[in-house]
Amino acid sequence: MFAANRTASFAKRAFSSSSRQNTRVAVLGAAGGIGQPLSLLLKLNPLVSHLSLYDIRLAAGVAADVGHCNTPSKAVGYGPEDGGLEKALEGAEIILIPAGMPRKPGMTRDDLFNANASIVRDLAQAAAKVAPKARLGIIANPVNSTVPIVAEVYKKAGVYDPKRLFGVTTLDIVRASAFLSGIAGTQPKETDVPVVGGHSGPTIVPLLSQLPAGKKVVEEGGETLKQLVHRIQFGGDEVVKAKDGAGSATLSMAYAGLEWADALLRAMNGESGVKLCTYVESPLYADKGCEFFSSPVTLTSEGTVGEIHPVGDLHPSEQALLDECLPALAKNIEAGKKFMA
Ligand code: NAD
Ligand code: LMR
Repeated sequence: MFAANRTASFAKRAFSSSSRQNTRVAVLGAAGGIGQPLSLLLKLNPLVSHLSLYDIRLAAGVAADVGHCNTPSKAVGYGPEDGGLEKALEGAEIILIPAGMPRKPGMTRDDLFNANASIVRDLAQAAAKVAPKARLGIIANPVNSTVPIVAEVYKKAGVYDPKRLFGVTTLDIVRASAFLSGIAGTQPKETDVPVVGGHSGPTIVPLLSQLPAGKKVVEEGGETLKQLVHRIQFGGDEVVKAKDGAGSATLSMAYAGLEWADALLRAMNGESGVKLCTYVESPLYADKGCEFFSSPVTLTSEGTVGEIHPVGDLHPSEQALLDECLPALAKNIEAGKKFMA
């Protein structure tokens, strides 16, 4: 539910005559470590009719490559020349933004702020002008701050609709499912852990007590719980360290990005009650300075933010994590807003 199981619905949709299967998706940063596998996965998704792949380098090559996959959608690559960004955005209904620098060992996501804030701002300015009604999924880090930056860009352009802006935190949910099922011996797809808050270290708050397998681990406490929570919060660092200077998570992020996009596509294609944890403008902790917060969100039939659900019952250890998350997240949000002030 929180990261949305695609496999069964893929098969169902392929034979459904009511599916509209005609959504135009744009990926900005399509030639990067995330952008390439994400573009491939989107090319394979039967609900996507057209893929616009933009990057400052190599996008034409990526489009030519994925374009040879014999699925019905069309893939077109655009570079920055000849108004390529605007062309890529024309008619886009979903825009994913993985453009930006990844971390190297020793860096925090906040260390990416200086490099990525202006990249995301500039891309958002173009999106606000050309495709203001598109649903936007922000992958570029630091997500806690880049999403507020995009909101400010859209406000300045007079086209902000908070229901269309999402931070993609799905990788945290995917990791929580993978790591908990590894301990509990459960099926990952049936081990659906809500993860709330933001997307960096202590702002990532897994709510393990809300499913039976996780509740057992939480109630037993001790080292197993401590290590599991740490691994979910710092899974990104695990990949950065293992890649040893060659970047951060790309393949698992492409998988998570597809899960996020597929949730929107399914909602737009008539599936009701599609629910996922995602970082949106939220009233839940706005009084604590967290105007943006990730919690379970039910999508509307337009693939936009519908009901924003509260975090639900928390074990005292989870309440402690949430208490630690909120001030850190508030600072990240403030940094994004300040950048745009
Ligand atoms: P990468 O360096 O491999 O790819 C980034 C791509 O962005 C490159 O192809 C580059 O040419 C392109 N780019 C740079 N400036 C651009 C611009 N102005 N317009 C269009 N394209 C531009 O990096 P990556 O590993 O793909 O990671 C991308 C971002 O995603 C990083 O900021 C990383 O931290 C973040 N990330 C987020 C999550 C998440 O869970 N949200 C997970 C993993 C990585
Ligand atoms: C992740 O969680 O893997 C990403 O945010 C990339 C990173 O820098 O850790």
